[in-house]
Amino acid sequence: MQYDNHNKFATTTVLLHWLVGLTIIGLLAVGIYMSENDVYELYPWHKAFGFLVLFVALARVVWRMKNGWPAAAANTNYTPIERKLAAVVHWVLISATLLMPISGLMGSVLGGHGLDVFGVEIFAPNYSVDDPEKTLPINYALSKAGGAIHFYLGYTLIVALLLHVAGALKHHLIDKDGTLKRMLGKTIN
Ligand code: HEM
Ligand code: HEM
Repeated sequence: MQYDNHNKFATTTVLLHWLVGLTIIGLLAVGIYMSENDVYELYPWHKAFGFLVLFVALARVVWRMKNGWPAAAANTNYTPIERKLAAVVHWVLISATLLMPISGLMGSVLGGHGLDVFGVEIFAPNYSVDDPEKTLPINYALSKAGGAIHFYLGYTLIVALLLHVAGALKHHLIDKDGTLKRMLGKTIN
């Protein structure tokens, strides 16, 4: 198995970064749009893609643990604060790729809403006996906690992502080093 090295990232790193990263950006946008505007038709799509990305994110975390964090593309010019900030942001991003789907599942499934992934029922909804139009929470407190984590971590993730993209652009446009190129699969020197 080919691991990351300073001049070139493994294809697995690049594919997992963009597959998880772009799906998450989509989920953030859809999540905010659907909940702000009560667009209930989008909920099943958001939940299904959010559930599926959990497995790819898990694979990515295992890969990161085996592979270690990438060394900086260029070793000069970065201040200790920049290095620390990049590391903290990477931790927030990678943790959120697991905690966002888990908290979403807690909020939804423990709230009695069930989960259907493109026609496959993963968790059944908990319908009220008195009014089958209504769903009842399975664990109200945990569902509430999951919903709150999903909400606050969602917005924290957006801040981390903005810093992350700003960092990537700074490397590319100001430092003119190979950081972004390396994550696009190119060999750098
Ligand atoms: C347009 C959006 C994005 C751009 C331009 C971008 C760019 C990059 C670049 C250039 C690196 C390499 C940093 C280095 O070599 O030290 C990187 C690493 C990383 N990115 Fe992104 N990224 C984006 C979106 C995301 C998203 C949405 C996430 C997760 C939610 C994410 C999570 C990470 C993590 C955890 C790393 C560390 C290396 C790894 O685990 O693969 N990125 N990103
Ligand atoms: C990486 C995966 C995910 C991301 C980035 C994400 C992101 C978001 C964001 C930013 C919101 C809007 C803020 C809020 O109202 O909480 C949201 C809402 C929501 N998400 Fe997710 N989500 C993900 C996965 C999931 C999963 C797996 C489920 C359930 C199975 C889920 C269920 C929901 C629900 C039900 C809402 C609406 C909450 C409301 O109307 O109050 N999400 N999501």
